[in-house]
Amino acid sequence: MDIGIEAIKSRVSTRTYDGTPLSPDEERSLRASFSEAVPGPFGAAPRFILASRDEVEDEASRSGSVRGGVRIGTYGMIVGPRAFVAGVIAKGPFACVDFGYCLEGIVLRATELGLGTCWIGGAFGRGAIARALRADKGEFVPATTPVGHGAGRPSIQDRIVRGSSRARTRKAPAELFFEAGEGGRLLPLGSAGRWDEILEAVRIGPSASNKQPWRLVLDRRDGEALHLVLHEDQRYNNMLGEVKLQELDMGIAMRHAEVAARAIGLGGSWRRLDRYPISLEEPQRYIATFVADNVA
Ligand SMILES: Cc1cc2nc3c(=O)[nH]c(=O)nc-3n(C[C@H](O)[C@H](O)[C@H](O)COP(=O)(O)O)c2cc1C
Repeated sequence: MDIGIEAIKSRVSTRTYDGTPLSPDEERSLRASFSEAVPGPFGAAPRFILASRDEVEDEASRSGSVRGGVRIGTYGMIVGPRAFVAGVIAKGPFACVDFGYCLEGIVLRATELGLGTCWIGGAFGRGAIARALRADKGEFVPATTPVGHGAGRPSIQDRIVRGSSRARTRKAPAELFFEAGEGGRLLPLGSAGRWDEILEAVRIGPSASNKQPWRLVLDRRDGEALHLVLHEDQRYNNMLGEVKLQELDMGIAMRHAEVAARAIGLGGSWRRLDRYPISLEEPQRYIATFVADNVA
């Protein structure tokens, strides 16, 4: 999938839409991205549709005390959306990582088209989406996003949610980035050299409740590779059963790293190494390694 790094830099969560429908061209371009965005790094390919608002509203929002607002998600409210990107994926150990990677590809393409999006991992009409996609028992609906034209002025609710989730704030690089030392111990990272842009592209990505659970470990002991680690909030990540919000975040991180690697001309791919290359302690979990091509 060909996505420019600018999309990563300019994307923000949009919770207030102006209520206008997508143009036929916008719909066409967005739908085209559904097949480009799959499969995920672990091989699963979600199926996506452009769903109408009625299909993702949950029961509570339909009984409707709120004008123009859709009460979906774990917090906040989405105002004025006409369409959503919804998808299903087969259940499996890395299903949410794959789904996160694929849907973030679509989110970034939507950003390039000038459309607003907002990842929603909390409560919404998962059952209706599963029915619309004719999902079988082995599939589930991890997340969705509204997609549309952002309203100029965000609603009061939007501003409150942005404040409470520290929307534009991100952890400092020193909290997130490490270097693999002798025996796989994690050391503070000095200069990352050409990996700088890749690390930054992950750092500024969206994550559930803006928890930023990704940790990145640059490994220059034998060639060059980047290990992705989940610093898991176990209670939070397991509160929705098979929907693992922080594994969606891992998939998003993998998409961002890959887009940035392309942008700087660094070939490579994600692999899950059989033997963990670094020593980790709970709540840290090894996810995968980006191995640069042009290194022996
Ligand atoms: C997996 C995932 C689930 C999310 N779920 C919700 C949600 O249910 N409701 C919501 O308002 N925002 C949700 N968000 C959006 C985050 O709060 C947002 O990405 C984060 O605060 C950073 O802000 P930004 O996207 O504007 O950079 C979710 C984000 C991710 C990645």
